[in-house]
Amino acid sequence: MRVIVESDAIGVSRTAARFVADLVRRKPDCVLGLATGSTPLGLYAELIRQNREEGLDFSRVVTFNLDEYVGLDGAHPQSYRCFMQQHLFDQINIDPRHTHVPDGRALDFESHCEQYEKLIRDSGGIDLQVLGIGSDGHIAFNEPGSSLGSRTRLKTLAPETIRDNARFFGSADAVPRLAITMGVGTILESRRCLLLATGSPKAQAISATVEGPVTAQVTASALQLHRDVVVVIDPPAAGWLTRRDYYQHVETSQKLLQSGQWSALNLER
Ligand code: PGA
Repeated sequence: MRVIVESDAIGVSRTAARFVADLVRRKPDCVLGLATGSTPLGLYAELIRQNREEGLDFSRVVTFNLDEYVGLDGAHPQSYRCFMQQHLFDQINIDPRHTHVPDGRALDFESHCEQYEKLIRDSGGIDLQVLGIGSDGHIAFNEPGSSLGSRTRLKTLAPETIRDNARFFGSADAVPRLAITMGVGTILESRRCLLLATGSPKAQAISATVEGPVTAQVTASALQLHRDVVVVIDPPAAGWLTRRDYYQHVETSQKLLQSGQWSALNLER
């Protein structure tokens, strides 16, 4: 697990955008896994900027979103489909047929979830999955206790999540109780995961994810089992980490290695 602590939330968005944009340039028909929430907004704004000003081309990119509220159709202002249209898809040159978000109004949820998994597989699998994290340590809507082998399915939202998301619905009572979400197992099959977090309310969840034991009680901790995870956070979200100096040291060593400064690493070439 690579942990990058940027100096602020803007740095988090820029670094995250660099990972995504590098992939899109290297593999123009890549498959991106996308997340909603307030955390990736800066990342999406930077991708839109690069699309407009630097010609970052999304015409062949395929996307799969992590989750959707059950009961909301794509036109509902709080649906995740609507969020993605507003904050990314409508502002870049992506083919609408390439954008996938689970359908919160699917009639047969079981077959819809199976179909979603099949679509991911048939697209070649997710190259890079963008993730936020809930204050209870969830990734997507995989609430504490979710099986670490779970697949796309219906999930009941935890009280913490309903409370966290009440601000978007005006009150906790109006928050949907169910969601369709990719499972932890689905997420772990992505070739790379990019976990973003900003602000002190995420500090405990980030510490449990990076330095705690792997447990279904903090589903993000399952990322410790993945071979290519990059965690990009700001100093408040890093506030509970005990090995922050070491993570910084790793980043410095990587830069020295890449720039050929062998002697600084006591290496001879
Ligand atoms: P947030 O949500 O980005 O709005 O904090 C993250 C999440 O709950 O996964």
